[in-house]
Amino acid sequence: MTRIIALANQKGGTGKTTTAVNLVAGLARHGQQRVLLVDLDPQANATAIFLGMAYVAGPNPGLTVYEVLTGKVEVAKAIRTIELASTVILDILPSHIHLAVAEQELISVFQRENQLQRALQSVQANYDIIIIDCPPSLGLLTINALMVANEVLVPIEPGFFPLIGLGLLRKTIETIKGANPKLRLMGLLPVRLNRTNLAASTLEQLTHAFGELVLSAIPERVVMGEANAHSQDIFAYAPHSDGAAAYLKLVEEVLHRGETNG
Ligand SMILES: Nc1ncnc2c1ncn2[C@@H]1O[C@H](COP(=O)(O)OP(=O)(O)OP(=O)(O)O)[C@@H](O)[C@H]1O
Ligand SMILES: [Mg+2]
Repeated sequence: MTRIIALANQKGGTGKTTTAVNLVAGLARHGQQRVLLVDLDPQANATAIFLGMAYVAGPNPGLTVYEVLTGKVEVAKAIRTIELASTVILDILPSHIHLAVAEQELISVFQRENQLQRALQSVQANYDIIIIDCPPSLGLLTINALMVANEVLVPIEPGFFPLIGLGLLRKTIETIKGANPKLRLMGLLPVRLNRTNLAASTLEQLTHAFGELVLSAIPERVVMGEANAHSQDIFAYAPHSDGAAAYLKLVEEVLHRGETNG
């Protein structure tokens, strides 16, 4: 069965996109996995990293997740295949700022929260893992992701404010489980971990409250932002950095959690 993992956190700037990009790149480089990245954020940051700034800044990007969600085209027509390295390929369903109006356009559509699930049906068997990068909100786009996903991965920045929003996200997941019973919280990923006392104490609280749900942390490193700015994943930009090592560990943990949870 295809694992569909939504990267969600309604708080902005918690490392969803950085994690989506490096997780799909790591999984694709792993070699055994057929991977699709769905960029479900109108900010199109993941698309910019893989397809370039010119693609997202231009007025006419071609077919994107916007046309797919609003039922204008079949998903297969909008998926792009890119080469991350020789013999390493990744499929991406790109986004564009156009997606920002999809919520209004879908208002009168019957079962509008199931648009992504309906759209992916025809292609999902082609993949082992589909990763969805969600926008920083719990609006219709994120709901569409949670309706099709079977797992949620929540990147979280250790600190006081990020922990407050976690309750709301868990409540949303519980509510959506009523309509999508296969959905489960796969893990909480501490990102941008630094050496401050605040980071250490909130990481401790997180582990105390959530135990094994807490994955190995990603350290705060300038090189992570640099890789994004250079439109590269961390394995291409700084393969020997501890940021790359941390994301490789995440790839292993995600694969392991798939095995143990069937
Ligand atoms: N481990 C890290 N170390 C240092 N900087 C990081 C790290 N991870 C992410 N960043 C930087 O933090 C910022 C926010 O990260 P990112 O865009 O991945 O978050 P996001 O949750 O997708 O944001 P949004 O909610 O706007 O979609 C970016 O500038 C990114 O380069
Ligand atoms: Mg993002």
